Amino acid sequence: MTMDNMIYSHALRGSFFDITAIADTPDDIARHARYLEDGLLFIGEGKTLGLLPWEEGRRHLRHPADWQDLRGRLIVPGFVDTHLHYPQTEMIGAYGEQLLEWLTTYTFPVESQYASADHAAQMSAFFLSQLLSNGTTTALVFGTVHPESVDALFTAAEGLNMRLIAGKVMMDRNAPEYLTKSAERSEAETRALIERWHNRGRLGYAITPRFAPTSSPELLEAVQRLRREFPDTWLHTHLSENPQEIAWVKSLWPEHETYLDVYHHYGLTGERSVFAHAIHLEECEWDCLHQSNSAVAFCPTSNLFLGSGLFRLKTCWDKRVKMGIGTDVGAGTTFNMLRTLGEAYKIGQLQSYKLCASEAFYHATLGGARALCLDDKIGSFTPGKEADFAVLDPAVTPLQALRHGRCRDIYEQLFVLMTLGDDRNIAETWVGGRRVWARDAVEAAA
Ligand code: GUN
Ligand code: ZN
Repeated sequence: MTMDNMIYSHALRGSFFDITAIADTPDDIARHARYLEDGLLFIGEGKTLGLLPWEEGRRHLRHPADWQDLRGRLIVPGFVDTHLHYPQTEMIGAYGEQLLEWLTTYTFPVESQYASADHAAQMSAFFLSQLLSNGTTTALVFGTVHPESVDALFTAAEGLNMRLIAGKVMMDRNAPEYLTKSAERSEAETRALIERWHNRGRLGYAITPRFAPTSSPELLEAVQRLRREFPDTWLHTHLSENPQEIAWVKSLWPEHETYLDVYHHYGLTGERSVFAHAIHLEECEWDCLHQSNSAVAFCPTSNLFLGSGLFRLKTCWDKRVKMGIGTDVGAGTTFNMLRTLGEAYKIGQLQSYKLCASEAFYHATLGGARALCLDDKIGSFTPGKEADFAVLDPAVTPLQALRHGRCRDIYEQLFVLMTLGDDRNIAETWVGGRRVWARDAVEAAA
């Protein structure tokens, strides 16, 4: 289709920022960054048809007034959250513990409630509204061991036409009895969920063994069978988050050299495999992630909150490992990607790595899409991609307005947004070419 014969459902005028191509180095990002201070976005059948400078784009309007005015707003691709747990929404901000005690003290008891389909449905709706009100349009999500948890989440996401990937947790040891299920049962439940939900509309299934310590060899064999049977599903788990966790893995799996080797041995590395955290990796583990084309999720607020450690962003680039950003709610302390990027910057500072705004926004959009192997579908305003985006209001507080007024260019504006911004900066969220959330509407209703 050419711009002349296109049939658009919406034409939006505003400022636009995206990164238009996959980057192999941080320097590539600046080369592929696009900023249109006055642009016009055409949308049709849920997809982006074209993004043009206003003066050029206006010639393609059906009549001169046929556009929506979002001037003063900054429109960016919808954020991609590559790791979080929806059942942990209700326990965010649990005090005082690091990973293993945090799991047993707070997490497992809360997750037990998702045997109830009603509870799961209520919390799914709340969780998705949190994603959307924070400008996040795609996420890779942990449920609980209960199939009900995933049925509820997919049902709610389908109603919103969101591109969402999720899976039921698989655990068969080292967790309370009420949350463990045999490898055989978990395999059967996972298979049924894949058959019900995977590739239904915009939904995808992630096979989700929680992590090595709660998995027996039989469980990981079951995961391996499922992965062979359904090769285009995702694999989602945790890796090398905390020193005690790593020591535990070594004692449970003495025959394996490294933590990652446990997963690799069962064929669980590879394209569409996403490993959350990956903080304390050995050199050979980075190499294995690269060679297997696996991805990692960097979860800044969680890593700080649980005192887990500092993700090595520079090493991740040097080793050419795909990476996305995860909020990791509820160990993470916010659903908001702007705040998460602000914390990522500080983790960089503690290691003398300067995370500039264009790199940060890349990780939160196209880079995250690539980590999930969805970069042909989402992550930028390239024509043909699904029209998922966030409309940002860059100055919603007196301090933001003052600081915004002093910004010299878009990069400074973006950096100030990731330093001072939060959910108040998300004016609208669009999914599949439809506005699904608007701050004005919420404020008007309040
Ligand atoms: N490792 C295993 N389970 C979890 C979890 O629920 N949260 C985090 N942050 N790490 C984990
Ligand atoms: Zn997690």
